[in-house]
Amino acid sequence: MIVHLTVDGTTHIVDVDPLRSLATLLRDELGVIAVKNGCEQGECGSCTVWLDDELVCSCLVPAVQADGASVRTAASLANGGLDTVQEAFLDAGAVQCGYCIPGFVVTVADLLERDPHPSEHAVRDALSGNVCRCTGYRKIFAATRLAEARRP
Ligand code: FES
Repeated sequence: MIVHLTVDGTTHIVDVDPLRSLATLLRDELGVIAVKNGCEQGECGSCTVWLDDELVCSCLVPAVQADGASVRTAASLANGGLDTVQEAFLDAGAVQCGYCIPGFVVTVADLLERDPHPSEHAVRDALSGNVCRCTGYRKIFAATRLAEARRP
C-alpha cells in the first residue's frame, strides 16, 4: 500500500507491506534513528512517538495506519539545540546506555505539555509504559522534575 506521512516535518511517500509496523518503517526504511525498536510487543516504550499528537508505541501500530498522519519523534524536539526535556536528562545524568531515552523524552515532553506541574502519581503513571534497564529510574524522575522547573 502507498502511504503518505510526515515524519518530524519531512513528507514521505512509501510503498508499505500491510504487515509492517510503524516502528520498522521509521527506523529501518526511513532511517529515523530517534526511534528505538526494543521489545516489539508494546512493553518497553522505546519506540514511543506522537502519531497526530497521540502517544503510541510505534511497534504496535501498522505502518499503513499512519497514512495521512504526522509522526513526531524525540528528534523533533531538538530545534537547533537540545530542548528543555533533553537537556534535563543530560544534566540529571539520566542516561546510561541511552537506548530507552528517546521514548522517555517523548513521554516526559508529552506529560509536561498536558500537565505542566504533574503530581508524583501522574509522573509515575505517565512513565509506567517506559522501561529502563540501566538507571534505576531515580535520575529519570529527577530529570522530569528538572524539566518541569525549567519549562518556560
Ligand atoms: Fe539504558 Fe535506559 S539508559 S535502558
